[in-house]
Amino acid sequence: MTSSLLAEVSGAVADGIAAAHPALTGADPLVRPSERADFQSGAALALARRAGLSPGELAGRVAASVRTNALADVRVSGPGFLELTVAPDAVWRRVAGRAAQAGLGVPRVEAGRRTVIDYSAPNIAKEMHVGHLRSTIIGDCLARVLDRLGADVVRQNHLGDWGTQFGMLIQYLDEHADAAWRRGDLAGGVSSVSALDGLYRAARARFDADAAFAGRSRERVVALQSGDPATVAVWREIVAESEAAFRRLYDRLGVLLTPADSAGESFYHDRLGDVVDELTRAGVAVVSDGAVVVFSADETGPDGSPVPLMLRKRDGGYGYDTTDLATLRYRVAELHADRILYVVDARQALHFRLVAGTARRAGWLPDGVEVTHVSFGTVLGPDGRPFRTRAGDTVTLGSLLDAAVERARAVVAEKNPSLDPAEADRIAELTGIGAVKYAELSTSRTKDYTFDVDRMVSFSGNTGGYLQYAHARIAAILRRAEGGPDPVVDVTAALHPAERALGLALDGFGDTLADVAATLEPHRLCTYLYDTARAFTDFYEACPVLAAPEPEHGNRLALCRLTAATLREGLRLLGIAAPERM
Ligand code: ARG
Repeated sequence: MTSSLLAEVSGAVADGIAAAHPALTGADPLVRPSERADFQSGAALALARRAGLSPGELAGRVAASVRTNALADVRVSGPGFLELTVAPDAVWRRVAGRAAQAGLGVPRVEAGRRTVIDYSAPNIAKEMHVGHLRSTIIGDCLARVLDRLGADVVRQNHLGDWGTQFGMLIQYLDEHADAAWRRGDLAGGVSSVSALDGLYRAARARFDADAAFAGRSRERVVALQSGDPATVAVWREIVAESEAAFRRLYDRLGVLLTPADSAGESFYHDRLGDVVDELTRAGVAVVSDGAVVVFSADETGPDGSPVPLMLRKRDGGYGYDTTDLATLRYRVAELHADRILYVVDARQALHFRLVAGTARRAGWLPDGVEVTHVSFGTVLGPDGRPFRTRAGDTVTLGSLLDAAVERARAVVAEKNPSLDPAEADRIAELTGIGAVKYAELSTSRTKDYTFDVDRMVSFSGNTGGYLQYAHARIAAILRRAEGGPDPVVDVTAALHPAERALGLALDGFGDTLADVAATLEPHRLCTYLYDTARAFTDFYEACPVLAAPEPEHGNRLALCRLTAATLREGLRLLGIAAPERM
C-alpha cells in the first residue's frame, strides 16, 4: 500500500469522469484535500464546457458514477464542486497498513534517477558565512528527500579552492613568516579559519596597496598553476586547514557532506584548456579583445548589450565561468547525471543561465538532462538589511549557531528544570541547531528572511522546537504504554473527527515528499509536519488513549505510534534531531 488515499480517490474520480462522459477520459480529476469534506474536486467546473453540460449537471453525473469503497459519500456542492468523504474503515485500513510497514508509504517516484546536488560550496581561506548556511541546509534536505524517494543522489561540494587569490595568500605567507597566523600556528587551531580569514584581509590590503607585491602574487599564481612543488605544498596546507574547519561545522550541523563529496574548483583545473578549445572549435566561443568569450543572444545587460561569459582572460587566466562549464560537462559525461541541481543564492541566476545555455549550444546537455538553479534569497538582519555584525562584517556561521544554542539553553531550562546539566546541554545543542535549520527550511526558499534567534528558538508556533517537543511528548506516551500488547487496529471501529483528521494527515506523508521533490521546496515538508503535529494535539485533547477501552485503545495507540514515526522521519529528512526526551 504505497499509494495514498488521495491517489486512490483521485483514481476513482478519474474513472467516474470517464464513465459519466467518455470523451473526458484521461482528464485531471483535480482532487485536493479540503476543509469541508475530506477531499474536494473542481473537475466538473473545469470540464463542463468540453462536455457541453452545465458544471452542476456534469458534477451530478460524475457523483453518480464514482465507485470506490474508500468513499462513504460523494455529493455536489455550490456551482459544481464534488465533496468527497472517506469511509471510516478506509482511514483505519490506512493506519493499520502504514503502521505495519517500515516505509511509511513513501513512493519510490525518483527511483534510479541520478541527481547531482551542488551545495554548500564555501570558499577556502574565508569564513563560511550565513549565505553558505542556506545552501548547506537546503541542499542537504533535498539530498535526503530525493534519496528517500529512490533517487541516486550524488552530492558535490564545489569548494572555492582555486583562483588568483591563492597567489596573494601564499606570497603573503612567504613574506611574513613571523605573522600571527603563520603556518605553524594555524595547524589544527580552533580559530584557524578566523586566522585564515584575517590572513586573507591582510593579504588583500597589501595586494591593493603595493603594486610590486601584486606582481609577485601574480607570479605565484603561475607557479601554483604550473605545479611548483613548494607553492602547491602551501596551497594544500591552506586548503586542509579550511576544510577541517568546515568539517567541524558540518558535523555540528549534522549534514551529510563528507570529504568524498568535495570536488572543488581545483579539481577541474586540468580540463579548462580543453573546454575553451572545444567551445572555440564549435564556434560557440569567440575571441574578443584578446579574451575568449561566449555571447548569448538572449541575455542582455541593462544597456541592451549582450552579457558575455568569460572563458579566458586576456592574460590567459581562467575563472569561475570556465570552471563551471568544465564542471557541468563532467557531471553529465562522467557522473552520468540525469538532473543537476545548483543550490546557490539568487544573485548567481544569470551565471547559471549562461553556463547551462552555453553547454546546451555545445551539445553537452543531452535532451532530458535537467539543469536547475535552486536559488534562494538573502538572510536579513533585524534592520531588514543583509545580515552583518555591528562592526559591519559578515556574520560567521559558528557565532550564529552559538547564539541559537545559548538561547535554547534558557528555553530548555525553563521548560524542563529537572533535567540533569549534561542532558540539558545536549538537548540545548540539538534544539538550538534544529531551530536554526528549521527556520531556514520552513520559509519559502526564494524569499529573503530575517534572522531572529528568539523566534527560531521558541517552542511555540511553526518552529523546530515545537516539532521536537511534539515528538518527545508522543514518545513519552508510548513509553507509558510499553509492555502492553502490540496495538491491533480494528477497522470496523467508529472514527472520531479528530482521529479522521489525524489519520488523513498521516496518510499524506508520501504525497508531501513527492511534492517537495517536484518543487524542490523543503518548506512544504515543514508545513506538513506542523499541521500533523497540530492534528495530533487536537486528537490527544479529544480522545483519551491509554485509559480508553478496546477497540479505541488499540486504534489510538496505533495513531500515536504512526504520528511519532512520521514526525521522526520527517525531522530526519529535514536533518533535525528528534530526541526521545526533552
Ligand atoms: N563558492 C561559490 C560562492 O561562494 C559558490 C559555488 C556554487 N557552485 C557552483 N558550481 N558554482 O559563491
